Amino acid sequence: MQSRPLYSRLLLQFTPYGGVLGATLVAVAIASLTDVLLIRQLQNVVDALRPQGITHGAEVAGGVLTAVGHWIDRLLPVTPAQAALWTIPAIIMALAFLRMVSSFAGDYGSAWLSNRVQADLRGKMFHRILRLPNGYFDASSTGTTLSRVTFDANQVSQAGLNVVNVAVRDSVATAGYLVSLFTIDWQLAVFCLALLPLVALVVIFAGRRMRRLSESAQNAMGELTRVLDESIGGQRVVKIFGGQDYEQHRFDEVVKLNRQLAVKHAATAAMNSGIIMMLIGATLSAVIYFALLRAQANALTPGAFVAFMGSLMAMQSPIKNLTKINEPLQRGLAAAKSVFGLIDAPIETDTGSRPLTRAAGHLELQQVGFRYDAGDVDAAPALREVSLDIAAGETVALVGGSGSGKTTLASLLPRFYDVTSGRIMLDGVDVRDYRLSDLRGQIALVSQDVVLFNDTLAANIAYGDPAPDQARIEAAARAAYAHEFIERQPKGYATEVGENGLRLSGGQRQRLAIARALYKDAPILILDEATSALDTESERQVQAALERLMKGRTTVVIAHRLSTIENADRIVVMNSGGIAEAGTHEALLAQGGLYARLYQTQKQLTS
Ligand SMILES: Nc1ncnc2c1ncn2[C@@H]1O[C@H](COP(=O)(O)OP(=O)(O)O)[C@@H](O)[C@H]1O
Ligand SMILES: [Mg+2]
Repeated sequence: MQSRPLYSRLLLQFTPYGGVLGATLVAVAIASLTDVLLIRQLQNVVDALRPQGITHGAEVAGGVLTAVGHWIDRLLPVTPAQAALWTIPAIIMALAFLRMVSSFAGDYGSAWLSNRVQADLRGKMFHRILRLPNGYFDASSTGTTLSRVTFDANQVSQAGLNVVNVAVRDSVATAGYLVSLFTIDWQLAVFCLALLPLVALVVIFAGRRMRRLSESAQNAMGELTRVLDESIGGQRVVKIFGGQDYEQHRFDEVVKLNRQLAVKHAATAAMNSGIIMMLIGATLSAVIYFALLRAQANALTPGAFVAFMGSLMAMQSPIKNLTKINEPLQRGLAAAKSVFGLIDAPIETDTGSRPLTRAAGHLELQQVGFRYDAGDVDAAPALREVSLDIAAGETVALVGGSGSGKTTLASLLPRFYDVTSGRIMLDGVDVRDYRLSDLRGQIALVSQDVVLFNDTLAANIAYGDPAPDQARIEAAARAAYAHEFIERQPKGYATEVGENGLRLSGGQRQRLAIARALYKDAPILILDEATSALDTESERQVQAALERLMKGRTTVVIAHRLSTIENADRIVVMNSGGIAEAGTHEALLAQGGLYARLYQTQKQLTS
């Protein structure tokens, strides 16, 4: 995405809050202007210090505030000197008050806006995350996605507003000071402006050199860390291969580089500040020379001179901010790219329109082929030409070596991925023709790693049910042999999973997952290595729970330990993405093929 559309899109996020944004920017502008006016008051103060200086309060107030002075004068008929005595402090007080109010409003509005936009973006991102296809999560790490939602969303809203804020605040201030300078003495102002580009050039040049040096210093530090990391991490290798001298030499080299760069950096910084001081001194001398000429010609009062110099100094900071605005802008745009990238990421295809309340459970895979990376046609497919007809209520076990495609096949049923070729039918209809949520409503999944959410045990069993039914939860838990240990928890079913001290064993977690599947009561069940992580004792209990769960459902069970699936109606042996053989346990053993070999190997291992 280009930066301009990116930035306009970022600004668009603020449009729902246009009113607040407008008010905030007005407040920011007012706060900026009060600064300009406060410095302008120096003129009145200094001129009032001269005995003959005070002629009339209104004249002293000068410029923008003359009208106020006149108005106050008319209200209070006192001598001019007395008037000046309290007019100036009163004006300063009024300006200070205005500054307080407007800067509070500006800061408050900014915080409100950036947090609101941040929350909006996070909401949109999370909405996406819940609907992203599996492929997204395969391709990007959890950490990246987390930081997109936490860090990048924050950066975007902060930077987006910051840039607008700075642009308004500092351009108003700069313009204000310019007006101030020109109204005090336009000739002097023109003279100063002519010097400005010269100063700016030197400052920019010096800054660039510093930045380059900082970058190399950073790289050198990275190099040092790398050498250290390698030597410490590989200390055994270093010792056994006698690499001490080599490592020492490498380390000395990077330390030397670091040292040289650090000194160079310090020297450049010192030189820079010297040159800039010198330059400022020279400029100041020139300005003062010209100002004195003007004063001697009676064109400039001491007050005007002080106010002029004050405004000139004060003007530096807003100008500097304006020239540096690109920095936060770029940072914000980088974050915006990441945030909008996530918000725009394509979601799962859900084009099917067929509703499905409860499937019978007849699954049919017709020459199913699948590749994880559809673009990479040279890579071996994860599944090739898999045809399998699973009758409603049948239990089919998938066995085979690791990487043979069992999990992949199971993932295609709930459409975690879509087939690359062929098709999968449920009750005679292509699964892509059903509504995605309806299709997934037919399938319960228990896999090796059990995901428990930070909620009560009951809520974890009834996960996804908007109106959990306590009686059914308990029934599911009993059937899953989970009721007993749940009752033993401090608060029974209401025990929070995330609570300190709630340490569930692998078998207990597994039985919770089975209870969850039982509660869902779906016609199709997928068990992917549901018992592989368990010891034999808990496996027996879990196995019993599983057998209850499988009753009356179409079940696809993937098991590493063949002893657990001997009773399956059919055993399908997979090998490098295809079906090698299929049949009952006895038939496959008699056949003496791959299954028989796997079975013999495992039997030898366990006995
Ligand atoms: N998310 C993924 N992205 C890319 N390739 C994958 C992914 N998951 C599995 N594979 C590959 O697909 C093949 C089948 O894997 P899988 O179905 O997990 O095997 P099994 O469950 O039988 O051990 C393997 O070659 C594996 O490397
Ligand atoms: Mg697997």
